[in-house]
Amino acid sequence: MQANPIISIQQLSKTYASGFHALKSVDLEIRRGEILALLGPNGAGKTTLISIICGIVKPSSGTVTADGHDIVRDYRAARAKIGLVPQELSTDAFETVWSTVSFSRGLYGKAPNPAYIEKVLRDLSLWDKKDSKIMTLSGGMKRRVLIAKALSHEPTILFLDEPSAGVDVELRKGMWQMVRDLQGSGVTIILTTHYIEEAEEMADRIGVINKGELILVEDKAVLMRKLGKKQLSLQLQTPLQDIPAALAGLPLELTQEGHTLVYTFDSQTEETGIAALLRQLAELGIDFKDLHSSESSLEDIFVSLVHADQPATHKEAA
Ligand SMILES: Nc1ncnc2c1ncn2[C@@H]1O[C@H](COP(=O)(O)OP(=O)(O)O)[C@@H](O)[C@H]1O
Ligand SMILES: [Mg+2]
Repeated sequence: MQANPIISIQQLSKTYASGFHALKSVDLEIRRGEILALLGPNGAGKTTLISIICGIVKPSSGTVTADGHDIVRDYRAARAKIGLVPQELSTDAFETVWSTVSFSRGLYGKAPNPAYIEKVLRDLSLWDKKDSKIMTLSGGMKRRVLIAKALSHEPTILFLDEPSAGVDVELRKGMWQMVRDLQGSGVTIILTTHYIEEAEEMADRIGVINKGELILVEDKAVLMRKLGKKQLSLQLQTPLQDIPAALAGLPLELTQEGHTLVYTFDSQTEETGIAALLRQLAELGIDFKDLHSSESSLEDIFVSLVHADQPATHKEAA
């Protein structure tokens, strides 16, 4: 357990009125100042989890505190700490950017602070659009307006639910930079995504949710080291029908109709066994014309976690 987490979630479960069990006893502590990415396929329960923390959906059981405030018993105090950028793009079409963001601040009972709103709009490159009606803005700008609204009351925790959905690559990069800047200013950020690239790029820690269960939470680097596998592929001079009996027991596989011999090893260990393998191949007279190594990406790891019945595929090393 971490000392003084900013959000503490204990045995949180949610069963919707339909009887659907969307969250199953989730335990999670979110660290102050981190960027946590919640990764999971569609329907995994990411939005449900966020909606409970933000007080939009009622938990069936379990507790959540945000900066020490129970999100049910002490809702207003908890919610004041939180900014939420929802998954669905919905804003008041006829309002101007300035008024919708200022109004949002007012909803939290905060005194007007035009200088702060100006800073938020400038940081989000919305300042020259401040008097534009929201309906006239592009999708990417509308998303930024939602971010501005979420930041309007100076929250210390920001949830971004699928921030990249429908945002083109260029804007996505800009948004990632903005998220990093927010982290730099002390805001804790939780984002959900089903884009692995986004988690890989942004997160300090990664939580994987599948079918309502938080199946792991780990530092990104540790996760990649722990679960990452490397492969050595040897293009054989002469294709093999079968793996020779002398090599049975080694993590070897024949692919491309026997033209390639693939050796899988743990990227953590010092003793990879490669030298021994090459020696044995030489003794058996198995020649190869080329070899290269590859390592599993976060995507491979993710796929192997949520589809435990399917083996991970591998991506070529750069
Ligand atoms: N109001 C609701 N009533 C019944 N089922 C719901 C409701 N909201 C979401 N669900 C179901 O709960 C599951 C998790 O949904 P959600 O939390 O939106 O997943 P994610 O955000 O990971 O895609 C889905 O199967 C979804 O259909
Ligand atoms: Mg969702």
